[in-house]
Amino acid sequence: MPHFDLGALAYGADYNPEQWPREVWREDVRLMQEAGVNLVSLGIFSWAQLEPREGEFEFGWLDEIMDLLHEGGVRVNLATATASPPPWLSLAYPDSRPVTVDGVRLEVGARQLYCPSDPHYRALSVRLARAVAGRYGTHPALRLWHVNNEYGCHIDQCYCAQCAARFREWLRARYGSLDELNRAWGTAFWSQRYGDWAEVQPPRRAPSFPNPSQGLDWRRFSSDNILELHRAEVEVLRALTPDVPLTTNFLGFLPGLDYFRWAQEEDVAAVDVYPDPAGMAPHLEAGMVFDLTRSLRAGQRWLLMEQATSAVNWRERNAPKRPGLMRALSLQALARGADGIQFFQWRQSVAGAEKYHSAMVGHVPPERSRVWREARDLGQELKALDFLRGARVKADVAIMFDWHSWWALSQASQPAVTPLLPVVGAWYAALRSLGVNVDFVHPEADLSGYRAVALPQQYLLTPDAAQGLRAFVQGGGTLVMGPYSGVVDGDDHVVPGGYPGLLQDVLGAWVEEWAPLQTGEEREVRWADGRVTPVTEWTEVLHADSAEVLASYETDFIAGQPAVTRHAFGQGYAYYLSTRPDAAALTDLLRGAVQGAGVAIAELPDGLDVTLSDTGDGRLLHLIHFGPQAVTVQVPRAVDALSGQPRASVTLHPTDAALLRVPVDFSLRELTARAAASIPT
Ligand code: GAL
Repeated sequence: MPHFDLGALAYGADYNPEQWPREVWREDVRLMQEAGVNLVSLGIFSWAQLEPREGEFEFGWLDEIMDLLHEGGVRVNLATATASPPPWLSLAYPDSRPVTVDGVRLEVGARQLYCPSDPHYRALSVRLARAVAGRYGTHPALRLWHVNNEYGCHIDQCYCAQCAARFREWLRARYGSLDELNRAWGTAFWSQRYGDWAEVQPPRRAPSFPNPSQGLDWRRFSSDNILELHRAEVEVLRALTPDVPLTTNFLGFLPGLDYFRWAQEEDVAAVDVYPDPAGMAPHLEAGMVFDLTRSLRAGQRWLLMEQATSAVNWRERNAPKRPGLMRALSLQALARGADGIQFFQWRQSVAGAEKYHSAMVGHVPPERSRVWREARDLGQELKALDFLRGARVKADVAIMFDWHSWWALSQASQPAVTPLLPVVGAWYAALRSLGVNVDFVHPEADLSGYRAVALPQQYLLTPDAAQGLRAFVQGGGTLVMGPYSGVVDGDDHVVPGGYPGLLQDVLGAWVEEWAPLQTGEEREVRWADGRVTPVTEWTEVLHADSAEVLASYETDFIAGQPAVTRHAFGQGYAYYLSTRPDAAALTDLLRGAVQGAGVAIAELPDGLDVTLSDTGDGRLLHLIHFGPQAVTVQVPRAVDALSGQPRASVTLHPTDAALLRVPVDFSLRELTARAAASIPT
């Protein structure tokens, strides 16, 4: 498979020259040079310009801009331009317009107006991709294909008749027979038995709670169906330009697409990340996505394909990125393994739905723009950081994550509504506060490279995944499992006999009953050392068979019963947490678990982001400070990675960063960090 290599860290943006008159193009290239831009994503939404009428192509303007960019030293991540079909297509082929769960066919006027199953959209998008690849496949500016754009960001499920037909085909391939489908979907319930394939439908709006197994398969199908669409373009590109790498931009924890599966199609994983600058912890929101993206392709370096220079336009209230935050988040992406930093977009639109979305070149002239200065300076700064491309981020600790479990958990009619991402986010934040690198791992992946694996809320667990976890613990690994985990199998059927059905022996404990709390309700647990801490949202009637009890409930009908357990199993340990403790108690539990697994940790002040990466002959310590107070970090054996000067103590103000080189045998235990004010000068 071709390898994406620009020969430098990539820096640039989505470039939409079709929104601007020609005179602006030359100015764009000049400014790109000033900002150190070496890669732009071109033509993403230009289908209507490239093919203004069906079958009539106008490539002249794109030829011109490709040449201009090339002369200016800017390389191109060229889009296949299929992300937003032009109005003529949607009107000539009305079935190409997707249908919502309520049966509404969507109308022309925005973007991503396509049904993934529609043969006309498929054929026309593949034809366009072929035309683009044929024309530019050997252009000297071309470095990467950008296939479509953010699949599934607006339309991740289409409920039309064409999709229904493809769903049936997908189900036939999965189950072989209607009997097997009836079994998997549990259709003995509520008289849902299917007697003919033609009766099987997508889970369209129904009178009451839809069948959850059907809903789960529908999400699987929808992800696979869009993936097939993607593959159709990929096939064309691979056939015409086998040496040009390709990618499509992911969206991190996007609900609709199983990116573990998708990522295997790409030559390099790419992601768009838009943390809320007004949120509690934009660096955790972004960091989680960076770590996921790296994990999707087994640690391979990846691309940050889009982020905002400042504000976006699509939240209810759009906060700007305050001075320094854009740089700090960009450096964080590099620390976590990114090979490039790109923005949406190069020049801020003056018309259209995104005219209030920030860009590298804004509405105010560059010489008057703080955002421009920061973007330009970052581009120049990256030139000195090229050596980062040789670094690898390895993690001893992984959080298990799985779209299928997420989909099953998102079905209606459960003991409580338990959104997954806040739970995963809380565990991620706790682990990151210990300074440890964190991967996200698929349940059926090889776990042997990790010392500890955390399952914040792995509702669905296949027998293979359970077997993998059992072997992991047996072989000396540490498992930390959160509540409402291991409840159902791959068909979304409960594994009976006490929860989690497949892992009771590993945990030495079992759950008899769930007791979700009401919003705002609190209970307490008492830890072995006597501390009493609050828990919220969820409690369980947990029984410890052979497990040691680390904490017990203090209140309610479960007072005195176990809340948290630990079990020695084989060479390893399995922890079970039956409730949601506060951040401090969760961190304490995870600290004990990962330290017990032999993972080195550091105690970090609020907002200090630490990443260790390996360069082969040494290690890099990336320190980026997102907290509100200055901190001082002491690392006895460190030298500054850029100057080579010893740098055993570093003071970081909010959004400051330091990049240190440490010896191969460096351990996080050597790092101390505290509020700068508390260190005598
Ligand atoms: C992305 C998309 C871009 C732009 C951006 C705005 O989802 O790929 O085209 O819309 O969001 O934040």
